[in-house]
Amino acid sequence: MLVVNLFKHTQKNILCLRSASTINNNAVNNSETTTQPLKTWEEIPGPPSLPIIGEIHHFLPGGSLYKLEGYNLQNHLYKTYGPIVKMKGHFGGPDVVMLFDAESSAQILRAENNSPKRPGFMSLEYYRKVVKRKKGHSDKYTGLITDHGQEWRELRSAINPIMLQPKSIKAYNEALDEVAQDMVARMKSLRNENNMIKTKFSEEINLWSLESIGLIALGVRLNSFDFNLPMDSPVRKLIKMVHEFFAVADILDFKPSIWRFYPTKTFKRAMKLYDELENLNAEFIKKTVMRLKTENKPDDEKSVLEKLIDVDEKVAVLIASDLLFAGVDTVANTMIFIFYLLAINPDKQNKLREEVMNKPDRRPYIKACIKEAMRLMPVAFGNLRETSREYNLLGYRIPKNVFVIICHQHMALMECHYPRPHEYIPERWLVDKDDPLYYGNAHPFAFSIFGYGARGCIGRRLAELEMEVFLARVIENFQIQWLGEPIKVRQSVVNYVVEPFNFIFKDV
Ligand code: HEM
Repeated sequence: MLVVNLFKHTQKNILCLRSASTINNNAVNNSETTTQPLKTWEEIPGPPSLPIIGEIHHFLPGGSLYKLEGYNLQNHLYKTYGPIVKMKGHFGGPDVVMLFDAESSAQILRAENNSPKRPGFMSLEYYRKVVKRKKGHSDKYTGLITDHGQEWRELRSAINPIMLQPKSIKAYNEALDEVAQDMVARMKSLRNENNMIKTKFSEEINLWSLESIGLIALGVRLNSFDFNLPMDSPVRKLIKMVHEFFAVADILDFKPSIWRFYPTKTFKRAMKLYDELENLNAEFIKKTVMRLKTENKPDDEKSVLEKLIDVDEKVAVLIASDLLFAGVDTVANTMIFIFYLLAINPDKQNKLREEVMNKPDRRPYIKACIKEAMRLMPVAFGNLRETSREYNLLGYRIPKNVFVIICHQHMALMECHYPRPHEYIPERWLVDKDDPLYYGNAHPFAFSIFGYGARGCIGRRLAELEMEVFLARVIENFQIQWLGEPIKVRQSVVNYVVEPFNFIFKDV
């Protein structure tokens, strides 16, 4: 069976390659067992690079990649160079290989699953491992996002049973529903005479996701929906800082930056911000810890923090802090994409409303609507692994310690994996095997919104539940519409929706 599946997927991959007209034909060989000599690292196709600055000049006015970002950049690289593209590191940054081939992605993700290293937030890692330690912090762990190897494994095994067991996450259903209902009430009161939200919609949705994650991670209502919340309140500060965190990380870690050689203004700002963010998180967590010491709840009513404190208090604080900032923007932006796709596909929205109103216990269509939105408009462009050994990918030798970007956003929009890929068709996740739209015909590593394996998203189950519960309440209360031009997306560390937010929320 496994052999048949592999054959099916290898065949599909070849079709994917052939479907792009200008694809580099040298890159078709996809087997570890090839008898052909491997091509060298230097031979991997990609934009020509210059010493020190790598490929930066291509992104400047007049360059071939000028103003390209997100899906458009990925598509341009794929069409020009093929399913594997090399980008040289700039200013001391690492060399990167971008993969648009699902089978090679599977090869890397599976082989790196023992001790997966997902680099990315390098400036945060620097702050936690160098700056903080210089200030005298000597903790063994730095956090789920910045630790690797043995330390990461120990942290992860403390949190896995709490965050990944469907039963323990299901227990938060009621609490999340309470937050969802409060948010719906807030949205109703924030509408103008045209049924549009008067305040900045992305901030509103961020308040909802912060309130949800705060309740689950810390076990307290943060009262983010309070209309009298001062602009300098800790909750508003937290949201602002999480936003800023992603903005500085984007500049330092995902764009050309010389911070490794010279402390730029953004670098200095980042170090200060990371410090402020940690202190603010610590404040929230400290208050909760104090309160918890006087309470004794049964296990199924405990928050993530409470459950972790039973294991180890220091680890609890570290993990709760990472959950707070990894769980806000990701869910909020995904939710905006879901609203948008349902607004411009009213037939799907009506079908969803039918399910929400009539089937309280089993709701497959809502899950399909969310999944399809994440395929079509993902909040993350893909995934990342650092190679721990050499590989043969598509006939090229890939050295150790190279960053491999797995371009899921692009692969999930390939016709060979998902027929009619640019259409919003939640049904593809529900139809039978003999239907051409059946999702199982896609390579299983083409679309993987929550990442893969041992290092996959720890908040996955919680995110899914949060979104289902909130979406059901919104659909039950509002007919969602979108006015005017299509929505604009900006790629940063996560994909953001750019203003204006032309949503109309009419009472049902
Ligand atoms: C739609 C929402 C979300 C998406 C699409 C998403 C996506 C991802 C992805 C792609 C990864 C990398 C996985 C890998 O390396 O294989 C990740 C890691 C992570 N996510 Fe999420 N995430 C979401 C929501 C959340 C939430 C709600 C939380 C917190 C409760 C969270 C916490 C984390 C943490 C802590 C990690 C690092 C895990 C580790 O390295 O062990 N995420 N997420």
